[in-house]
Amino acid sequence: MDKFNIAIDGPAGAGKSTIARLVANALGFVYVDTGAMYRAVTWSVLRSGLSPDQESEVIALTERLDIRLAPGDQGQQVFVDDQEVTSDIRSAEVTGNVSRIAQIAEVRRILTDKQKRLAADKGVVMDGRDIGSHVLPDAELKVFLTASVRIRAERRFKEIQDQRSEVTLEQLEHEIATRDRMDEQRETSPLVQAADAILLDTTNMTIPQVVEHILGLCRSKVGGGK
Ligand code: CDP
Ligand code: CDP
Repeated sequence: MDKFNIAIDGPAGAGKSTIARLVANALGFVYVDTGAMYRAVTWSVLRSGLSPDQESEVIALTERLDIRLAPGDQGQQVFVDDQEVTSDIRSAEVTGNVSRIAQIAEVRRILTDKQKRLAADKGVVMDGRDIGSHVLPDAELKVFLTASVRIRAERRFKEIQDQRSEVTLEQLEHEIATRDRMDEQRETSPLVQAADAILLDTTNMTIPQVVEHILGLCRSKVGGGK
């Protein structure tokens, strides 16, 4: 199969990063987690003692940052100016602030330029919120992954019980719904299903079923079965 680009978008906890990584591995493609980039900026903002409201300082900081994604044994590793921040960027504090940072149009422009460059040579599976609609409008395959908010909260709950044992399922559901609303309602490249994206509701699907379904779409759409 020749190289092509795949865009995977959808709301929080829909399974985007898990599925995108497995699809990339199966095809021998590069996986790019754009959410990790917004998280890396947010982590740096908080560590610098800035508030997300200090927009011009946040933009200047974003311009200076060297954010690097590298494949690792446990999935993708994230570096900011050579410091590894892979697990730090998943903290509750970063998660609680990231959608505010992602609303700043100039931050989006800086990260979008970087994402376009990463995909320029094709053979990339990129996941996020605006990949099919904005970052890679020419991606050969676009998938919009979703699932009910309850199921997404349950999946996240299982995943983070070790780190945030105090959190309840209801709190997580509320956090996820709030973040989805901010992502859907922002002015610059909001979370939206691209007109030519294939909608996949994974509420009742296992991870291998979703991966197999997307690989099937790759075979029929890109392998000549259009
Ligand atoms: O993995 P999870 O669904 O929790 O989120 P993520 O993919 O790590 O993204 C974190 C946040 O970054 C999202 O809630 C969005 O606010 C923002 N984001 C974005 O605005 N555009 C993207 N392409 C990717 C993430
Ligand atoms: O990247 P995103 O926030 O969309 O989701 P994720 O971090 O890939 O997945 C959230 C959790 O749901 C992970 O623990 C996955 O293992 C799990 N998951 C699942 O149980 N069934 C699926 N069909 C997809 C993901």
